[in-house]
Amino acid sequence: MNTEQIVRTFVEYFEERGHRRVTGSTLLPPSGDPVLFTTSGMHPLTPYLLGRPHPLGRRLVNVQRCLRTTDLEEVGDDTHLTVFEMLGSWSLGDYEGPQSLDWGHRLLTEGLGIDPSLLYVTVSAGDQQTGPDTDSLRLWQERGVPVELTVEDNWWSNGPVGPCGPDSEIFLWSGDTPPRSTPTRDDRWVEVWNHVMMRHRRLEDGSLVPLPQRSVDTGLGLERLACLLQGKSSVFDCDVFEPWRRLVPPLWPLDEPSLRLVLDHLRSSVVVVGDGVRPSNTGQGYVLRRLLRRVLTVLWRDEPSRTLGDLPDELLSHTLDHFRQDVDPAEVRPVLLDEERRFGRLMERGRQLLARPRFQGPLRDEDFHYLHDTHGLPRDLVLSLREE
Ligand code: SER
Repeated sequence: MNTEQIVRTFVEYFEERGHRRVTGSTLLPPSGDPVLFTTSGMHPLTPYLLGRPHPLGRRLVNVQRCLRTTDLEEVGDDTHLTVFEMLGSWSLGDYEGPQSLDWGHRLLTEGLGIDPSLLYVTVSAGDQQTGPDTDSLRLWQERGVPVELTVEDNWWSNGPVGPCGPDSEIFLWSGDTPPRSTPTRDDRWVEVWNHVMMRHRRLEDGSLVPLPQRSVDTGLGLERLACLLQGKSSVFDCDVFEPWRRLVPPLWPLDEPSLRLVLDHLRSSVVVVGDGVRPSNTGQGYVLRRLLRRVLTVLWRDEPSRTLGDLPDELLSHTLDHFRQDVDPAEVRPVLLDEERRFGRLMERGRQLLARPRFQGPLRDEDFHYLHDTHGLPRDLVLSLREE
């Protein structure tokens, strides 16, 4: 099943159960929002989880592109991507957690054909403030799914304040052997779907107050599920990377970890540019700048003449189409090339500066400050130039 089929199956399943599809929002949260990018499907729905009536009603379904920089260092492993898609379903003060889990289990097993014996779930054991999530526990026991109880792993919030609650996570076995152990003890159990019982709101002072309505927020990582359904061991091998894997290695032969970084960051950059961000030294633009400069650092390490100008059009259009962005690839390419030129000039200036006698010995903090404040050379760039 390719990702488009998974999306269709998911959305139709929930539409048949009275959910209305919300148009997926961009990666850019509305102005005034404290976070730089949308990090989960629920993010744009926060006001409605806090109690505001949603114009489409109490049952919603969505496909939302998300960007997480917290996972940037983990990019390159088998399960993390910077930009990914989250399929989500919501009950806004309508049905409760057990109904959501029951539908979730049926969709995975009957709708998507997953062998039920490859599933394991986690449920909140509770703490002094909130008791154990007995409703979820009972549902899973009725359905014969093995359960692991945890405290911290089964609490979800989108930040220090705001809506939050206990969650129940569904894991799928990815190993070559029959399933063994439990999700917290064996990482071959891959988390695919999180169901959050949004019942509380965390205030500035850390206390919890009940939300005016009890909601359910679920999020399923599309690429992770696609890779498991397609029998692949890494998200970089699922169908959305097919043209990238076919076209990039002949262009730039790279080892697998470098290739994964280049694929992830370039694909993410195309989407971020498609949502209207331009490289800069602050905020969203800085994240884009970092993504592109990490790509260029890797590409130029082996061969300084490599250029993003060689990136085939097919990759730009495939990515923009996949994320349903109505943007001409011809608008994206100049942004990438402009940043490449700026970075190239900065590298050249850095090399000249670092050749000065003053910088021949070990660099002190004041050297880094001077290079950054007077010449715009970030510390990590200086360090990588010193390694050349
Ligand atoms: N908000 C939860 C998550 O991002 C479920 O959608 O995992």
